[in-house]
Amino acid sequence: MINIDFSGKNVLITGAGGGIAAGIDRSYAKAGAKVHLADMDVKTLEKPAAELKAMGCEVVTHTMDVTDEAMVQKVIDDIVAADGKLDMLCNAAGIISVKNYMDDNSEMFEKILAVNLVGMHKCTQAALRHMLPAGAGKIVNIASASSRKGVASMTFYSASKFGVVSLTQSVALTVAEKGINVNAICPGMIESNMTPLGAKHGNMTVEEYIALTTARIPMGHFQTADDIGNAAVFLCSDMAVNITGQALNVDGAMNMN
Ligand SMILES: NC(=O)c1ccc[n+]([C@@H]2O[C@H](COP(=O)([O-])OP(=O)(O)OC[C@H]3O[C@@H](n4cnc5c(N)ncnc54)[C@H](O)[C@@H]3O)[C@@H](O)[C@H]2O)c1
Repeated sequence: MINIDFSGKNVLITGAGGGIAAGIDRSYAKAGAKVHLADMDVKTLEKPAAELKAMGCEVVTHTMDVTDEAMVQKVIDDIVAADGKLDMLCNAAGIISVKNYMDDNSEMFEKILAVNLVGMHKCTQAALRHMLPAGAGKIVNIASASSRKGVASMTFYSASKFGVVSLTQSVALTVAEKGINVNAICPGMIESNMTPLGAKHGNMTVEEYIALTTARIPMGHFQTADDIGNAAVFLCSDMAVNITGQALNVDGAMNMN
């Protein structure tokens, strides 16, 4: 029987109060890990923390802005001081801007890069400062279907997410000999605060938007937050020990590269 058992292991999830993170938080908890939930907006952690506790999971919440290098290092150092180690990191914090490229501005581009790419680097480097001496660790970065091809209305977001795949590959190569795996997941379409299906999309009704978007997914349906959580848990498991530097599409066949 295949069994993923993270008993005795811990994980830090960034952006843990978000829609996709809800599935990620749950998946690590189901696998038996002690789960550290971190988000810039600590209020968003109340619901997932309660859900995980009800499952019998050991949960700790942290206020952490991934753009604040000192804060990131302190949260990670505190986790290691308390638990003796950090086994797994899942970088899920992210922001988006949906606008025509000519209507958006450099300030927004810098903000998106600061969270989605540089923030991910700050968390990764801070975690590796502990994982490297330990000679063990797993890192999963949440990229996007827009890591695979440009999107006219999400130029800055897509550029940041291409960067996530590159960061994943380069860091994976850097630590490959040290027994540390670094991979990315490219989710397709998942309902969240970032992609609220109930919100207005131009002149389309909600139903028209859902039908249009669904038609672009060969499998004919949206993905779920738990799909992404399951993939993250797999990539951190012993079953994926020889998988590193990869970006796994979980998108119903929208992308195949
Ligand atoms: N929803 C989708 O369809 C989709 C598809 C592909 C990839 N993604 C990616 O999945 C990840 C999660 O997105 P989501 O859809 O759940 O969005 P979401 O808006 O529901 O969640 C994002 C979370 O990140 C947190 N966050 C934002 N800035 C932060 C910062 N500076 N420091 C710490 N936390 C911060 C927010 O508070 C929020 O809880 C993102 O990286 C996103 O780019 C989403």
